[in-house]
Formats: sequence, C-alpha cells, structure tokens
Amino acid sequence: MFIGIDLGTSSVKGVLMTEDQTVVGSASAGLTVSRPKPGWSEQDPEDWWQATLAVLDSLAAAHPAEIRAVEAIGLSGQMHGATVLGDKDQVLRPAILWNDTRSAAECGDLETAFPEIRAITGNVVMPGFTAPKLLWLARHEPDVFSRIKMVLLPKDFIRLRLTGDYVSDMSDAAGTGWLDVGRRAWSDPALEHCGLSRGQMPRLVEGSAISGTLLPELAVRYGMERTVVVAGGGGDNASAACGIGAVRPGNAFLSLGTSGVLFATTEKFSPNTAAGVHAFCHAVPATWHQMGVILAATDSLQWLSRLSGIKAPQMTAALGESLSGPGEVMFLPYLGGERTPHNEARLRGAFIGLGHATDYNALTQAVLEGVAFAFRDCLRVLSDAGTAIPRAWAVGGGSQSRLWLKIIAAVLDRPLDLPAEGDLGAAFGAARLALCAGRNADPRDICTPPAIAATIEPDPAWVSAYDDAYGRYRRLYPAIKEFACS
Ligand code: XUL
Repeated sequence: MFIGIDLGTSSVKGVLMTEDQTVVGSASAGLTVSRPKPGWSEQDPEDWWQATLAVLDSLAAAHPAEIRAVEAIGLSGQMHGATVLGDKDQVLRPAILWNDTRSAAECGDLETAFPEIRAITGNVVMPGFTAPKLLWLARHEPDVFSRIKMVLLPKDFIRLRLTGDYVSDMSDAAGTGWLDVGRRAWSDPALEHCGLSRGQMPRLVEGSAISGTLLPELAVRYGMERTVVVAGGGGDNASAACGIGAVRPGNAFLSLGTSGVLFATTEKFSPNTAAGVHAFCHAVPATWHQMGVILAATDSLQWLSRLSGIKAPQMTAALGESLSGPGEVMFLPYLGGERTPHNEARLRGAFIGLGHATDYNALTQAVLEGVAFAFRDCLRVLSDAGTAIPRAWAVGGGSQSRLWLKIIAAVLDRPLDLPAEGDLGAAFGAARLALCAGRNADPRDICTPPAIAATIEPDPAWVSAYDDAYGRYRRLYPAIKEFACS
C-alpha cells in the first residue's frame, strides 16, 4: 500500500493506493488562507500538520487493514511558500504563500544585485518565489530573519514532522530562486545574495528517491507494520504531471484550477526568462519542465460568482453547451497581478466593451474567454522557448465545464484530452512517487498516462474568430499596464 499526500492551498488531500495503482481510499481536510494586508497570503504551518494528521486518521479509520500494510508515502505540495524555523524547529512566523505579492520590490533588488540569477535559476525572480520573500523578511522583520535556522517549502515541513529530516526534492526546490536548475543543486551565490547559506537549506533528493523513514511514533499510531519510507515527492504541478503520466518530453497538461497552469515536460533545462516562463526540474530524474502560470483561472470565475451570488457551475450552465462565437465583452484576468507572460504584481483586471445589452451571461462568457486568452499567452511564450505542445491533457476543477474546454481548445487551436474517470491529481502523482521510492521502480514505468475519456477538438468554425479576438485581447494589455502600474 502507498499513500500520496497533497498539501494544497484550500485543503490537504490524501489517497491510498495499491501496488497496481488502484486508489482504494481518499480523504481531505480543509485549510483557510489569511490575508492580513492587501497582497499578503499566509497560512499557519501547524494547520497544515493538523490537517495532514486528520487526513491520515480518516484513511486509517476507513481502511485499517490497508493502512497497516503501507510501505511508502509520497508528498506533493503548493510550491514556493516560505516556512521559516528556529533552532528548535519552532515556526517563527506564518508561512508566506505562493500567491503573496508583498515582495515585488525585493525581486527587482535581487535581480539588480545579482543579474546572473536568471541564467542560474532559469526564471525571472517573481514575488511568488521563496527568495524575495526571505529578502522581505530580512528588511521588514529582521528579528525573525536573524533567528532562521532552516527554510522549508510547505510539503517539506510536513516531511519534517513525518520523518524528522530536512529534505526537499528538485521540482519544489526549483521554485525557490536558489536552485541551479540545470545542475540540480543549491546555488551558493543565489543564497548569499539573500543573506542565507546552504546550512539553512534542506538536503536535496529526486522526487522518486527515498528521503527518509516515518518516525516510529507515527508508525505505531497507525499500526504500520513495516519501515515506511517517504519519497522526495514534488511540487504540486510536477506531482500532477506524474499523476497524469506527463513525464516524457513533449507531454503536456493544462490545469484549470485556482491558478491556471500550462505544463510541458522537457528533456533539458530550457528557460525563457524574458516572457515569464517557469523552467523547473521535474519530479523524475534527469527531466525538466516548463510552465506558464496564470494566477487567477477558476479564481476569476469565483470572483464573479461572489459578486453575482450565483454558484460558478450554474453561471457556466446558463451559457448552455455552445456559443455563437467570441463575445463583445473582454475580460483581462489579472485580479492579483500576473506571472506569465507579464510578471507584474501590480497589474489588475478589467472588463472592456460593456454596453446596455450586457448581462451576467455576457460577463461569464468574457471571464471564460479571458482565461482562455491568458492560456494562449502561455502557449505562445512556451513555443518561443522551443516547446511544441501539439495537444494537452485538461485537468483541474474548471475542466468540469465542457463549454470552457471548447473555448480553450478553439483559442489554443489544440485538442484537449480528458482523462478517463479516476483520481489522477497531485496526490495520486505523489502516491506514484511513493511507489517508485518504495519499490525502487523507474518512474517512467510507473507514471503512465490514463485512458482518454474524451477529446475536445478545436471547432474550426471558432478557431479563426477566436484568433482575431486574441489579437484584440493582446492590444489591451499596454493600456491596462499603463493604468495599473504608472
Ligand atoms: C506554481 C504555483 C502554483 C502553486 C499552487 O508556480 O505557484 O501552481 O504551486 O499550488
């Protein structure tokens, strides 16, 4: 038996999987985000741990025999979050999360002081990443900064509680801004420019390798009979890629979740920093990936749903199964700034083209289309970085809407494949990495793609209309930037 745990932003999820990869049980426990100031986003790491224990407890209650037979645990998690620990492993302050934008000034300062950082880490320094958050702490909370013994990523804090070891994996470490992503090793100069050293960083392993073993008191608590190993695991996107079987060069998926991600596996480290492409290590050895990240994907629809008081699925259902083509209203989904391709935390969203005839359905359609155009921006800059994406899997909560997928397929002019029924998310990917670590198996043999339940082909009648609309969408950005950022 194998367990995968995904520490998300809104919940911790766990799956229990057999050696032939059948998921026999799953459980989740909710988390909340605290936003004490505009642009801030924090969570208490203790809540992560309590939620993880709650998930393990429910799995154990529902499947006592299977839990006793667990061989390995894999960890996935929200990336980039800064978890800072003192000399007794005490949490020094709430963790600063991936969608926190307070450190925008520090990004510029770090890039100016150390221009080589882009080439080494393969990424523009963005406020989402861990490095500028630590510079912010050094400046604004020097007492906290001076007491930091260890900096961990969210899932690695869970690992510390599970195993007692400070370890991270390559894919998550790549999102810190301190990893030499091509060499898969910490970069001393990048750390030094943030006033940190290697001694404050966890040891690194590959996602499919063993990182440590479960502490005896936890093994006793769950009645686990063998020595349980904990796999390196991965950042949530790399873990999701393992779940959907996107581990070979050219494999791609589009995740329509809170944030939107276009993910492509690459055989080498291939950055395109100018356009805000993320170039990270994959959770499987000797493999990398590129990603375009949209900060507000389903979050944009949730925002409109909050204003209208209508639930998001009802809003999309109100549009029916089809449309007569692109709407007159345009939406730019930059509610909390944007990563790819603009890398601009101060950017804000917009509706353009409102008229007397505009109703809520028109706004909903504009939101679906605006997110689709943002994905097209990602496709464009990944392609500029040399990555061809002929087709992609569609995953995430938003992929429940057929209409949204039809719009995205037409805007990208690419077929989107829906996986056959099953629980194939990041927690499943983490369970697969546990299987690799526990059985010393090759991740390429374990992380295979699922059957295709349906393919959403780009509708030829829509493709050219959406191509024109995308041209109009791109022309709006300079005005919005000028408005929000001058
Ligand atoms: C990726 C990123 C998000 C988080 C969400 O760079 O910031 O996808 O990992 O959990």
